Amino acid sequence: MATRDDVLRELGLTPRWRLRTTMPAPAVAVAASVAASVAADAPAASPPPTDPDGTREVRIARLAWDAFAADVDACTACGLYRTRHKSVPGVGDRDAEWLFVGEAPGAEEDARGEPFVGQAGRLLDNMLAALGVARGRNVYIANVLKCRPPNNRTPEPAEADACRPYLERQVALLRPKLIVALGKSAASLLLTTDATIASLRGRVHRYRGVPLVVTYHPAYLLRNLPDKAKAWEDLLLARRTVAQSARPDPAEPPSVP
Ligand code: URA
Repeated sequence: MATRDDVLRELGLTPRWRLRTTMPAPAVAVAASVAASVAADAPAASPPPTDPDGTREVRIARLAWDAFAADVDACTACGLYRTRHKSVPGVGDRDAEWLFVGEAPGAEEDARGEPFVGQAGRLLDNMLAALGVARGRNVYIANVLKCRPPNNRTPEPAEADACRPYLERQVALLRPKLIVALGKSAASLLLTTDATIASLRGRVHRYRGVPLVVTYHPAYLLRNLPDKAKAWEDLLLARRTVAQSARPDPAEPPSVP
């Protein structure tokens, strides 16, 4: 049976761990800690999305990969386009078997237009390496929100709902063998539940027919060292699931979640 040290070594975390304790807090944290840190100058909640006849949703559901990023960039369905610098549509191998879904871009992602490039992203890259994959090699990385919420606050339900068609389209285009929901925002949106990560992890869920495993958000893991061993267990479950899964048939319509 592997010890905790073995697990952390396998995740490639042991040399970096000491360094990180001296670093500033990560840009993005999980819901509770982010909610607690919302600054007083955050703008008022975004207006509800305006797609009364569903035409936007239908259009997004037909987007090709090559039109996807430009469409996200032009989106004004919630108020976040006003405060973000760059939209962050997603990155990776368009033929990937693995889809990782996080919460929303943080400051570094907002500046670069790529998901998970900050401190949490470095941990995610280590997690991917431990699985034998890499950003852009059999992996696609996306977020629930494609635009940064001011001060990294938790996504508003209306914002997540406005962005949902984009994530749905990414899943439909990719047809991954597995989705890994990183943290509460991703798990809540994809599984339409308010359940805790602790209660959702450890088993295989389904999103539109695609197997889905829930684990802790890397930003949370940076602050909660003991839970890294649990995250490793989740990744092992994910790896077993990928090994056993067939790719969804493109001819079959996605099943309703
Ligand atoms: N946290 C997220 O959830 N997504 C990112 O892209 C970066 C940090």
